[in-house]
Amino acid sequence: MTEIQLKDKKFELFIPEKVIIKEIKRVAKDITHDMKEKKPLFICVLNGAFIFASDLIKRINIPCEIDFIRLKSYQGTQSSGSIKEVQGFVTKIENRHVVIIEDIIDTGHTISYLKNKLNGENSASVKTACLLFKPNALETGVKPDYCALEIPNDFIVGYGLDYDGLGRNLRNIYKIKS
Ligand code: IMP
Ligand code: MG
Repeated sequence: MTEIQLKDKKFELFIPEKVIIKEIKRVAKDITHDMKEKKPLFICVLNGAFIFASDLIKRINIPCEIDFIRLKSYQGTQSSGSIKEVQGFVTKIENRHVVIIEDIIDTGHTISYLKNKLNGENSASVKTACLLFKPNALETGVKPDYCALEIPNDFIVGYGLDYDGLGRNLRNIYKIKS
């Protein structure tokens, strides 16, 4: 399937599953290497990061834990700028080495919000791992520590990412057709 339709918008195949998995394996190897002896606590940002988190964490070959936070910032194809915490995590993060797992860093507001929150709770360290990074859309200074793929400023769906709730189940990543 090279072209799909979700509601009023058409999308074309952009990154096939095979490429995504290859890059996730590289990130998992780097995190496994860097976090040895640190028993990292992964915080998966729902909803978008659930597939990435699953494919990433099963390739982390050291003791680790995972918890989840649910945030909302996007409406339609635009970042709304304001971040709503819909559901928080429960694990104590004091003195823990935390790795935030995010689907995509776009304006960077979501990741900045979360980094500030976690730094304020006396964690030992806070790193970020994202599946996708749009460097040209960044409005904050927060760059990811680990990143599977850098992409241009196009709106994309699939592999956990949605357009108005649809498209999260797609195995490949698709970009909007202009
Ligand atoms: P930021 O706060 O602008 O960096 O946006 C982060 C959140 O917006 C991500 O966690 C995604 O849920 C959502 N988002 C950003 N870009 C896209 C996109 O191209 N497609 C779908 N969701 C996106
Ligand atoms: Mg998200």
